[in-house]
Amino acid sequence: MTAALTPALTAHWDEPDSFTIEGYRALARALRMEPGEIIQLVKDSGLRGRGGAGFPTGVKWGFIPQGDGKPHYLVVNADESEPGTCKDVPLMLATPHMLIEGAIIAAYAVRANHAFIYVRGEVLHAVRRLHHAIAEAYAAGYLGRDILGSGYDLDMVVHAGAGSYECGEETAQLTSLEGGRGLPRLKPPFPAVAGLYACPTVINNVETLASVPLIVANGPDWLAGIGTAKSKGFGIFSLSGHVATPGQYEAPLGVTLRELLDLAGGVRAGHRLKFWTPGGSSTPIFTGEHLDVPLDFESTSAAGSMLGTRALQIFDETTCVVRATLRWSEFYQHESCGKCTPCREGTFWYVRILRRLESGGGTEEDLEKLLDISDNILGRAFCPLGDAATSPVMSSIRYFRDEYAEHQKHGGCPFDPAASTAWSQ
Ligand SMILES: Cc1cc2nc3c(=O)[nH]c(=O)nc-3n(C[C@H](O)[C@H](O)[C@H](O)COP(=O)(O)O)c2cc1C
Ligand code: SF4
Repeated sequence: MTAALTPALTAHWDEPDSFTIEGYRALARALRMEPGEIIQLVKDSGLRGRGGAGFPTGVKWGFIPQGDGKPHYLVVNADESEPGTCKDVPLMLATPHMLIEGAIIAAYAVRANHAFIYVRGEVLHAVRRLHHAIAEAYAAGYLGRDILGSGYDLDMVVHAGAGSYECGEETAQLTSLEGGRGLPRLKPPFPAVAGLYACPTVINNVETLASVPLIVANGPDWLAGIGTAKSKGFGIFSLSGHVATPGQYEAPLGVTLRELLDLAGGVRAGHRLKFWTPGGSSTPIFTGEHLDVPLDFESTSAAGSMLGTRALQIFDETTCVVRATLRWSEFYQHESCGKCTPCREGTFWYVRILRRLESGGGTEEDLEKLLDISDNILGRAFCPLGDAATSPVMSSIRYFRDEYAEHQKHGGCPFDPAASTAWSQ
């Protein structure tokens, strides 16, 4: 059965002027509520973070101490650099005011008077659009002093990052915002206790915050009624790669790849699915066996991967899994901040070994070496980037060990058009 789409965040993306201000539907209602009531409402809705980890949003907001006399901050994580992930940038381009309204409500709920949008600097068009939208919001009285006569003040600043994947990690992002090199910090203390400028800080993903006005406007039961028992609501599923109609498909959590492929016209004509990522390159790959795994937090993890950012990268049988893993590992090596040894050295060795397997210099021991390096990174790295780097390597060996062995026996990549024999699997 084909799943139905649930366009909510994406409902207006096709309208030519979707990015202009129309009037915020939920803000006035939110400002009439007590901050604690908004936190409870978001808790009741079951909204979980859409930035990858799926932490309950209302619970995160509830960690911010009240009456502590310190400034509080809200940081919008708009760094979006995970390979395959491409939902936040279109959202900011098409409907920046959904994000800004959600950020104002979140800032009010956690009693912050300053909010920052940390956006990936390379996406200059998104940076410009945000600047323009924020100026519109100030002019309309939704930002600045005494918002809508409520007595609440909020300033919002756009900060363009300098292009580092690690700056999407929440503590590295705070260091970067403060003007330092984007290195992660030890947790605890968590940002809710000592975040930006050592003050209580909430960091949320773009899609998470853009969902908030809809929850305030429609009530918590609306979101709680969509999705699965523990993964409530809908999400933007980004299909890319060898698929007939790549794009953004907003659907309830728990939808399957089989259903999404039905909507997207299937794998490109004449080809079949070989492997795919459920949530970007940091989530272990799946294969054709996993077409019916419900794409929610619990089911993807029970099947050996993670929901991540719902970046579904589809690869057909013409793709060499070793080459794809090499390309991902090159990314992680490049983006490793170098602070801790397992990730800095491990990603370096991944690339050396995978390159030699691809180019014909692989040895029989290489597979075990790759797994041994993975064991030395997993759970031993300072921040989650290290663990993420092990995902493509370990999962590709789990499902395609024979293809790795073939590279070694064959003396190079059997998918190379110049090679004498083709990989027949
Ligand atoms: C290496 C790395 C990169 C990350 N990049 C992003 C990112 O670009 N955007 C994002 O929202 N979260 C990113 N995260 C997750 C954040 O650390 C954090 O969990 C998230 O912003 C919390 O927001 P949420 O609760 O709304 O999901 C990244 C994490 C890691 C380890
Ligand atoms: S795992 Fe270590 S080296 Fe890798 S990005 Fe995190 S802190 Fe830096």
